[in-house]
Amino acid sequence: MKTTKVALVTGAYKGLGFEWCKQLALAGYTVVLTARSLLQATNAAAILQAAGASVHPYAVDVTNESHLQDLATFIQARFGQLDLIINNAGVNPKDYADKQRMAATFKLEHLQADAMLEVLHINSIAPLLVVKHCRQLLQQSNHPIVLNISSWLSSVSNNQIAGHYGYTGSKNLLNMLNVSMANELRNEGIVCINVNPGWVQTDMGGNKAQLTTEASVTAMITNIVSKVTLADTGKFFHYDGTLHPW
Ligand SMILES: NC(=O)c1ccc[n+]([C@@H]2O[C@H](COP(=O)([O-])OP(=O)(O)OC[C@H]3O[C@@H](n4cnc5c(N)ncnc54)[C@H](OP(=O)(O)O)[C@@H]3O)[C@@H](O)[C@H]2O)c1
Repeated sequence: MKTTKVALVTGAYKGLGFEWCKQLALAGYTVVLTARSLLQATNAAAILQAAGASVHPYAVDVTNESHLQDLATFIQARFGQLDLIINNAGVNPKDYADKQRMAATFKLEHLQADAMLEVLHINSIAPLLVVKHCRQLLQQSNHPIVLNISSWLSSVSNNQIAGHYGYTGSKNLLNMLNVSMANELRNEGIVCINVNPGWVQTDMGGNKAQLTTEASVTAMITNIVSKVTLADTGKFFHYDGTLHPW
């Protein structure tokens, strides 16, 4: 008999992803904690396992489809179902150590297609590739949810930023792609939503951010994960559960 819900979190050895794993495990989920580095995934999982959590590390670069295929095979063999995907892995070129590479997504005069496409691959397309490979596992759940971490910077109606094309454009594309994916998967009962987590104290958000990871993830679980139904598929939420402007 299936009793325990299974969650998959990408980019999860630190930041928001790690907090998702921690809180979902506390809520009783079996969690598959993924990171590009197996060592970082294993070390992060060990912290949660020491507190008694059911957390399973797995090495996944979300842009690598053979990693995603292996991951799906692993989850199928171990758990046979998937109830929740947190598509959390993401990059913001402002954090690149290589400032020329950063500029190649920031300013028209430096813009380079390959640098833009790299950000789009990770932030916009990979979340769909994760679902592509895990679709049959989601179909085994009674209430499957795909939650993609978007950003307030994705919002066209809020946009007053000059440049910063890679990050804003990739998160905006993620919003559109999620609506299309929600439309495709509605008949399978799979709820696909996007969420702005707020401005959060992580390596990406910086230490001046408004929210701790704990506050952001608590709000997203309480206001969104525990409440959404199929009627919400395709929506874009603020972390407090209100609808986010497109
Ligand atoms: N913090 C904020 O204020 C804020 C606001 C809005 C949205 N977000 C979004 O929240 C999500 C989590 O970010 P965070 O704030 O927690 O920042 P973070 O600490 O920098 O975490 C980002 C994670 O994504 C991983 N990642 C990047 N590329 C990957 C790939 N190809 N495959 C697998 N993992 C990859 C990183 O791993 P590596 O270390 O290996 O690169 C890292 O673990 C991101 O999608 C971000 O855009 C954050």
